[in-house]
Amino acid sequence: MNHPSDAALPSHLPAGGEPRRSWRSLLAWSAAGIALALGVSSAYALIYPERMPPAVGAIVEDITGANPHPVHLLRPQAVPLSAVALLGKQIFFDTSLSASGTQSCASCHSPQHSYGPDNAFPVQLGGAHMNQAGYRPPPSLTYLYRQAPFSIGPDQGDTDVPVDMTQLATQAAGVQRAQKTELAAPAAPAMVPQGGLFWDGRADTLQDQAIGPLLNPVEMANASPEDVARKLLQTKYVDQFKQIFGPGIVSNPSLLISEAMFAVGRYQTEDSSFHAFTSKYDAWLEGKARLTHAELHGLQLFNDKDKANCAGCHLSQPTKDGLPPVFTDTQYEALGVPRNPALPANKDPKFFDMGVCGPFRSDLAKETQYCGMFLTPTLRNVAERKVFFHNAVYHDLKQVMDFYNLRNTAPEKIYPRDASGKVQKYNDLPVQYHANVDVADAPFDRKFGDQPAMTDEDIQDIIAFMKTLSDGYKN
Ligand code: HEC
Ligand code: HEC
Repeated sequence: MNHPSDAALPSHLPAGGEPRRSWRSLLAWSAAGIALALGVSSAYALIYPERMPPAVGAIVEDITGANPHPVHLLRPQAVPLSAVALLGKQIFFDTSLSASGTQSCASCHSPQHSYGPDNAFPVQLGGAHMNQAGYRPPPSLTYLYRQAPFSIGPDQGDTDVPVDMTQLATQAAGVQRAQKTELAAPAAPAMVPQGGLFWDGRADTLQDQAIGPLLNPVEMANASPEDVARKLLQTKYVDQFKQIFGPGIVSNPSLLISEAMFAVGRYQTEDSSFHAFTSKYDAWLEGKARLTHAELHGLQLFNDKDKANCAGCHLSQPTKDGLPPVFTDTQYEALGVPRNPALPANKDPKFFDMGVCGPFRSDLAKETQYCGMFLTPTLRNVAERKVFFHNAVYHDLKQVMDFYNLRNTAPEKIYPRDASGKVQKYNDLPVQYHANVDVADAPFDRKFGDQPAMTDEDIQDIIAFMKTLSDGYKN
């Protein structure tokens, strides 16, 4: 085939056109090559973000929402329940163990609601006639399996050492969470309450805890441990006690109760529904899910020490050993949440729930530096909850976020005013303990009139992120 254009081409070229042409085409080819390489490598980066170096990883994370550094999470092994745990399960769901005959552990800790209440009441009703109001909202029973007994000791911020290298580095420099200890004498580490169960840490283990609701007059309302033992002997599973613990158990009420409570604890420890770790965030940590732009931005703010700083207390990184984060440092803090007028107990203006210093525990009543402190709860499954904080003062996460954002910068939007028009800041804590309230950690370090730590968009994004913490994600 004769292509006139082909034949004509060289004659139009100036002298030395031949080498120029090959130089040009070389340029064109290499440009195409670079473009192709870029295309391939960015496609590669998009598909395998985890194989990228950190700087590229951060960019890829922003574009794709994938975790550039996936980890393997060490979940508790799912094994069939032991005979003791199966017994504990029956106790957990048994309404015949309550004075009313209608209430079991599951009535307030519903398996369909992350073992929290299935209603939006600030507190639950209980007692022999189911007309006695409780004092605090039932927490979720999920993710308690690593909770240590209550103790007061040096700030153990590093027990759950994060694998995040930048965090490790700051830790090594001795400034990690410096703010949390800032108020203590620099030479001595801050002594902080940590571990334990209940909002005030008054029970050490799940076994110790379980007898509490059975005897509490506003809950299952048994008159005495013997009363509980009598009811256990009448259950249809009484033979299982004999099989597991020996026939003598039925004539030893205190042993019967202690083994029954042990069984309830085993159930909560062994059954994986109490610590499923099946949230979208877990999948993301393992490189198996991508966060939306809003969720990722929310996570970044959540971790940002100067902004939302949620991770300062609600730990978000896996431990060095690969244990998934439970979103609490298990320490106690006084946040100064507003009083909830809807609580029956608060009808008495002299009643104050002060957490660690009482009134539901009395051993630390004299340690007034702990008045107002409550356990930092897990944020896993928090979007499934209908009331928030130890006094159930809020009903949605937006209200919670406004509290974190505006408590200091615009307290008039958070607290009511007294008769003279003065804003009653920290109105759920007697004035003499107001100094216990955390004003050092972001976002609480902002002052009156300052720009709040978060914008409305930031808040929406952090809420979007918190929703990735609900179990049962399927991709
Ligand atoms: C009437 C409602 C009610 C019933 C019934 C009930 N609980 Fe609770 N539960 C609560 C409340 C309220 C709290 C928080 C109390 C506090 O902090 O003082 C709580 C706290 C707990 C905690 C501590 C959680 C944490 O984060 O520290 C555990 C564990 C628990 N309950 C297990 C049980 C078991 C086991 C039973 C049955 C034997 C039971 N509950 C029955 C309302 C109830
Ligand atoms: C200084 C420690 C600290 C920081 C920082 C912190 N929290 Fe909390 N958080 C707590 C404590 C303590 C409680 C319980 C306080 C109470 O009930 O009085 C709590 C409670 C909550 C609750 C209610 C959970 C429930 O089950 O009722 C949510 C939601 C929450 N925090 C989200 C956040 C978010 C989002 C951020 C970041 C903007 C954040 N927290 C920052 C310590 C902290």
